[in-house]
Amino acid sequence: MPVILQISDLHLGRLPEHDAARAEVLRAAVADVRPDLVVVTGDVCENPIASPKEVDDARPWLDSLEVDTVVTPGNHDVGNKLSVGKFGVTRGLYEHWSQHFGRGWERRDLGGWAILTLNTQITGSGWPEEEEQLEWLEAQLDSTQRAAVFMHMPLDLGPVDDGVAHAHYWPVDAGARCRLLPLLFRPKVRVLATGHLHHYASFPSAQPPRVWCPSCTFQVRIPGLSGEVADPDALGVIRYDLDGDEARHEYIALNMPGVTRVEVGA
Ligand SMILES: [Fe+2]
Ligand SMILES: [Fe+2]
Repeated sequence: MPVILQISDLHLGRLPEHDAARAEVLRAAVADVRPDLVVVTGDVCENPIASPKEVDDARPWLDSLEVDTVVTPGNHDVGNKLSVGKFGVTRGLYEHWSQHFGRGWERRDLGGWAILTLNTQITGSGWPEEEEQLEWLEAQLDSTQRAAVFMHMPLDLGPVDDGVAHAHYWPVDAGARCRLLPLLFRPKVRVLATGHLHHYASFPSAQPPRVWCPSCTFQVRIPGLSGEVADPDALGVIRYDLDGDEARHEYIALNMPGVTRVEVGA
């Protein structure tokens, strides 16, 4: 039975004095869970625009976890979706990232499951890679019986999408969602796992079922996203047991050094 560990929103370089200790904590978690694969769903770095070396340093840092990793970028790695209007994704950031981590979409096959990563930062860009990724996704889903899909930005804000001020910043754009959802809206997609929100939540009745992985390094307070369904205090990683046709998950809390909490204004 394949076991996947999802790690998200490391933001290495934000508090660099804690990065080595954070690797220790994650190495211990990996040794405990002994996953077949670790999927890192973006925001590996904090600010490569100011410090491109963060991307170069991230690769050996992840290799130090001594486990096979697949990595897809977040907005802090290659830039925001362009419609945000600032710190948008650029060719330069993306190409630098790709030298170390590839294009951001990748498939691994484990025990009859396709483990797929998607790059949400190029959605809505109009770049050729956006079309290429969609065509690739369709082909992957046509050629597997079961899939677990991992990406940085959520498709939507779930049942808490009530028109809060940040509703535009956090999920993929409506146009991108309209193109991704028909591809992902199939029973064979057993889980859609995302990061970015720094909140933990699970929506098992959604199609596809969603899991929001919290950050393992700091919490974010997003007005309108706390409450019954989304836990803003979660700090840790998610374990997935791919058992038959079922993708069970478990939130594993981690005691990370240097934790901070960030308030996002309304
Ligand atoms: Fe993040
Ligand atoms: Fe993010």
